[in-house]
Amino acid sequence: MITASGEPSADPLGPLIDGWGRRIDRLRLSLTDRCNLACRYCAAAGAGSPCHIDEAFAVAVVRWLSGRHGVRHVRLTGGEPLLHPQLLHMVSSMARLCSLNEITLTTNGQALAVSAERLRRAGLTRVNVSLDTLHPRRFARLTRGGDLARTVRGIEAAIAAGLRPVRLNVVVQRGINDDELCELCEWGLSRGCTVRFLEMMPVGPEATVCRERLVPAAEILDRLSRRFTLEPIASPVEQAATDYAAASVVGGGPAGIVGVIASMTRPFCTSCRRLRVTSRGEILSCLFDAGGWSLAAAWNGGRLDEEAADRILQAAVMAKPRFGRRTQRRRMISIGG
Ligand code: 5AD
Repeated sequence: MITASGEPSADPLGPLIDGWGRRIDRLRLSLTDRCNLACRYCAAAGAGSPCHIDEAFAVAVVRWLSGRHGVRHVRLTGGEPLLHPQLLHMVSSMARLCSLNEITLTTNGQALAVSAERLRRAGLTRVNVSLDTLHPRRFARLTRGGDLARTVRGIEAAIAAGLRPVRLNVVVQRGINDDELCELCEWGLSRGCTVRFLEMMPVGPEATVCRERLVPAAEILDRLSRRFTLEPIASPVEQAATDYAAASVVGGGPAGIVGVIASMTRPFCTSCRRLRVTSRGEILSCLFDAGGWSLAAAWNGGRLDEEAADRILQAAVMAKPRFGRRTQRRRMISIGG
């Protein structure tokens, strides 16, 4: 293997393969467990003790996983990743590694308007923006104080900056926002966004409530098909979403790509290629892992001991379950969505 500088890299271990033969090449890196919102299914009311990832650590982890283990896609998550003070600098350092195909970010969009253009110039490829409702009062209630107009400005800035296609993530919740799926779809498609509807997963202390609010993907698609024709699109096996080419039933309406992420009714564990590193520096091999594998012992004086990190990684990857247990007591905000 040749590094960006043209020199052979030290002892590359090759692609990461877990105990079930899955190739692991996608990293979700949570930069902070702080958030400027507190969505009811994700975070507790009131601030906890926020934790930022160290900039040098984040870049060292990406360099290590991409250089030695073939990780090609990094998604920056949180908490809210835009709150990390060194975000721009981290993105440019990661982009300079040249070993990544994509650096993407999942955000609530509240602080995106001011940084979208700079993020693209730093090397960010795309953004996913969480948007569960288009009603300002409902938005404020679901997010405990969020301003819908700010997220909308963030989405528009991301589109203008060329972070396209902007993907909108809608967590569908029965009795909460399932009456506006067609409106959300129309709104997103008319702006050129891909709109993804997520089945609610039982994560965090309110897992039981989450379970009760689940709207199965089949029902989501059924509702959408009242206003859109939906043609399945062949997508890569490792993709969590099932995508459709959507077009308005009535002429002149918007068209584009709509997807469902059926984590509950059609789990994609068998093709999962993800690994997570939390803002506390622990590896999670599965979203539903109860505990993580801390990289602290491999982080010495601001330097990542890659051999030591490899041993921790090996244990984490071999423990990646074939199927996630679909129950997680930790809150999503501390895992990184
Ligand atoms: N179920 C499904 N999706 C969730 N997200 C956060 N919590 C849940 C949950 N319990 C979503 C966020 C974000 C994405 C990364 O995960 O809304 O868009």
